[in-house]
Amino acid sequence: MHSTQTINGRNSAPVRRANSCAFVILGAAGDLASRKLYPALYHLAENNLLSDEFCVIGMARRDWTHENWRGMVMEDLEHYCGKDIDKSVAKKLLDRFYFQKGDLDKLECYNELSDLLKTVDSKHNTGGNRVYYLATPPHWFAPAAEHLGKAGLSNSGEDGAWTRLVVEKPFGNDLQSAYALNQQIWSAFQENQIFRIDHYLGKETVQNIMVFRFAVGLFEPIWNHNYVDNVQITVAETVGVEERGNYYDNAGALRDMVPNHMFQVLALTAKEPPSRYEAEIVRDAKRDVFRAVRDFSSQDLATNVVRAQYTTGAMDGQHVPAYRSEHAVRSDSMTETYVAMKLFIDNARWKDVPFYLRTGKRLPKRTSEVAIQFKRQMLMRFDSPAVEHLEPSTLVLRIQPDDGINLQFGAKVPGPVMKVDMVEMNFCYQDYFGTQAAGGYETLLYDVMMGDHMLFTRADNVEFNWRIVEPILNLWATGPKDTLYTYPAGTWGPPEADRMIEADNRRWRTPDQVNCFAR
Ligand code: BG6
Repeated sequence: MHSTQTINGRNSAPVRRANSCAFVILGAAGDLASRKLYPALYHLAENNLLSDEFCVIGMARRDWTHENWRGMVMEDLEHYCGKDIDKSVAKKLLDRFYFQKGDLDKLECYNELSDLLKTVDSKHNTGGNRVYYLATPPHWFAPAAEHLGKAGLSNSGEDGAWTRLVVEKPFGNDLQSAYALNQQIWSAFQENQIFRIDHYLGKETVQNIMVFRFAVGLFEPIWNHNYVDNVQITVAETVGVEERGNYYDNAGALRDMVPNHMFQVLALTAKEPPSRYEAEIVRDAKRDVFRAVRDFSSQDLATNVVRAQYTTGAMDGQHVPAYRSEHAVRSDSMTETYVAMKLFIDNARWKDVPFYLRTGKRLPKRTSEVAIQFKRQMLMRFDSPAVEHLEPSTLVLRIQPDDGINLQFGAKVPGPVMKVDMVEMNFCYQDYFGTQAAGGYETLLYDVMMGDHMLFTRADNVEFNWRIVEPILNLWATGPKDTLYTYPAGTWGPPEADRMIEADNRRWRTPDQVNCFAR
């Protein structure tokens, strides 16, 4: 079935166009800009969501003219938009693209940028509104923000014009560096000007967690320790480190995925209903979850956290190399490509409910999901082993791929003998809303231009996230090396991760259950 209509057919409320601005991309020659930002701007243009008073300045260290750069962005759009692009839309957009050669560490380049901004501001009537997007390697975040400040580019105008700074991930690589980065950026920008990106928050299904919980509300009465047995959050990837060995070998699965994407999903799943759908109130509610995460004792660190690295294996029948043989990875690397952990949230709602998190590269399926496993409620005696051993009912919020929600529960198998089996009710986004071209960045860029912080990470949230994982990072940096386990590429992680959850008489959702609707 494929329908673009919801049940009541009201899925196309008009959306306001974004506010006028000059959108400056620092790191315009980089991979992120090519893969994510240009396609996102194109999709916004295609959907008529950009202002007519809008333009883009790309800054990089290259000797490009405006025309050279426009040609290259056109190639990126053709390559990354994943379908035939509408050339007239792309051309109209690219006519508003300007290139500024610049070294991020040279103040004079920011002065030149300032001059170009004045020209394009008046040509495109941007009203002096500006977005600076730091699409650079992370070590440039602080110096670029400071230089923007020194060049007088960080202040919002007196005439109501605004200036905003977008900072990409990773935001620091531990608590101390995240704290220092906040301090450095604050020397030039105020917190309400800063938009820290976590692209998971741009994903429709992640945003839908709040709607499902607090607007639909169907499950909210049982969304607590009285009814929920455990929560499993899985972010599994089939890819290895690709061309990112330099970055990844210094980061690892924990830093790369947990104190950002996975904790955002955790917070949305676990938080209390905010009193209003307003950025600060929602971000306060998330902060309260992070604050309530129980500290790891040294015993917990030994039993509730598992790290592992992939060895050589097979993916879809193809041989793939071990992590240590990947490009730009040290041959004796101790970096984990898989991490699993058990957390508790010490508040009234989640008393003693374990949250199991796992993420890894080179796992058999690409899937991100939140599975809420409910307690078994046997409200009468059936005197039937089949009923007594029924699997727990589970609600699965499927983030990707095949986004949707499904509910798995037991049902009587037709026939004279009492038998039960698990069945499913399934909702797929695609069936109701069609395929979404958007990858999440569209929403985030649009929100930056609208000044909406809801889908961005606030400074205190970032610091709480790092605080939670800090003891793990410290232990791994200084503790015994034999706690780095291995798993063959193409398998669901190391046996030690299974043992961790089995020690609680539970098990990870099996590969068949994980994203069983993948097409
Ligand atoms: C990035 C990580 O933030 O998220 C990558 O650095 C990871 O290592 C990616 O592959 C996963 O994002 P997605 O949207 O593909 O789930």
